[in-house]
Amino acid sequence: MNILLIGSGGREHAFAWKIKQSPRCSNLYIAPGNAGTALVGENVAIATDNFPALGKFCVEKDITLVIVGPEAPLVQGIRDYFENTNELKHILLVGPGKTGAQLEGSKDFSKQFMLRHGVPTAKAHTFQSHESAQALTYLDSCIPPIVLKADGLAAGKGVIISPTVAEAKQAIHEMLVDKKFGEASSKVLIEEFLDGIELSVFVLTDGKNYVVLPEAKDYKRIGDGDTGPNTGGMGAVSPVVFAGPAFMQKVETQVIIPTIDGLKKDGIPYKGFIFIGLMNIKGEPYVIEYNARMGDPETEAVMTRIDSDLVELFEACAKGELKNKKIEINPQYAITVIMASGGYPDSFEKGYPISGLDSVGKGLVFHAGTSRNDNAVVTTGGRVLAITGNGPTLEKAAQQAYEIVGRISWKDAYYRKDISQDLARIEKS
Ligand code: AMP
Ligand code: GLY
Repeated sequence: MNILLIGSGGREHAFAWKIKQSPRCSNLYIAPGNAGTALVGENVAIATDNFPALGKFCVEKDITLVIVGPEAPLVQGIRDYFENTNELKHILLVGPGKTGAQLEGSKDFSKQFMLRHGVPTAKAHTFQSHESAQALTYLDSCIPPIVLKADGLAAGKGVIISPTVAEAKQAIHEMLVDKKFGEASSKVLIEEFLDGIELSVFVLTDGKNYVVLPEAKDYKRIGDGDTGPNTGGMGAVSPVVFAGPAFMQKVETQVIIPTIDGLKKDGIPYKGFIFIGLMNIKGEPYVIEYNARMGDPETEAVMTRIDSDLVELFEACAKGELKNKKIEINPQYAITVIMASGGYPDSFEKGYPISGLDSVGKGLVFHAGTSRNDNAVVTTGGRVLAITGNGPTLEKAAQQAYEIVGRISWKDAYYRKDISQDLARIEKS
């Protein structure tokens, strides 16, 4: 079958790499893709939110299956557009409709969903722009640190953790009144701080049945030792040593099953990924957030641990036939290290040629923010490459990843040197 993958990051390169291994895949197109996806399939210069152009392309190329990588087109309703357009409604699509994508698109919606369906999560109150006075009064009763969350999509920047009530008051004013995040912060959640250790669990569901993908841990801060500002993610590790079988069983019974049952009870059709951001607090899972897509850079680690044919699973998901489907997962470790532009997550220069890409040997180089400029591959984003190493131990996987990182360079390239070291310490203790 012909497949269209939508997106342009490291997640999409990793999907493309895995999709292309399936005997079911004839032609793979990526819109708009990057210099890495162009090595696996054919890039198509269509923006992820140009639904009419994407639809027209699907008809022209006889596309059977569409995979939506990022959240924005899902929240904007790409599935609804395809389902409501006569010549597109037969096309299989992985990704929820506009209502289901609200699990990610609105933190208030997802909080109410969790509370309604008994999914363990932090206590929270929601305030709207005209309720800023009530929000300030409520903050007086909170024990810091205090978590403030813009309701809508804010490019991963909409969560502020304030160490004092005074700072929380300042921050909520900026969000609700000054509209720091535009419309996204016209509603803000004030949330209880969860003190634990974080991990990501991924589910592929057809709205009734599901398969659980390998779990992963993300490294969100820019600096070694989890210091400095938050980023989209500077690395990932799978499996996660503190998520053993007993914990994962709790995740399944206390989180995954109530979530899928909740979608059914609420009459929300859902065919796609649910990425569950979890806090492990003394062995108990609490949901921090849902996303309606896979994680980035977690996908670049997770894909290397799936032995099943991903296209077969995608097809079953989109047709509503995931019942009795199994996912085969290999036990090896996967470690992904992000190489970023110097300056990221603040401002950074683009357009630097990358050297060393031809001599990487074993391991995988997924492109995140790159494009081809004549004969050179150049940097075009904050997160530029996602390097994945695999091995029978954390150390071996990390060694493979960092060996490749050491061979690749460009002006001001930056990466964290400690990806997986915290987990290695836990494993040893
Ligand atoms: P989000 O944008 O929802 O992914 O949140 C960004 C990050 O903020 C999460 O990955 C957590 O590290 C942190 N965070 C969010 N909510 C909480 C909470 N209730 N308690 C502690 N940390 C949180
Ligand atoms: N790595 C976190 C995310 O994809 O949201």
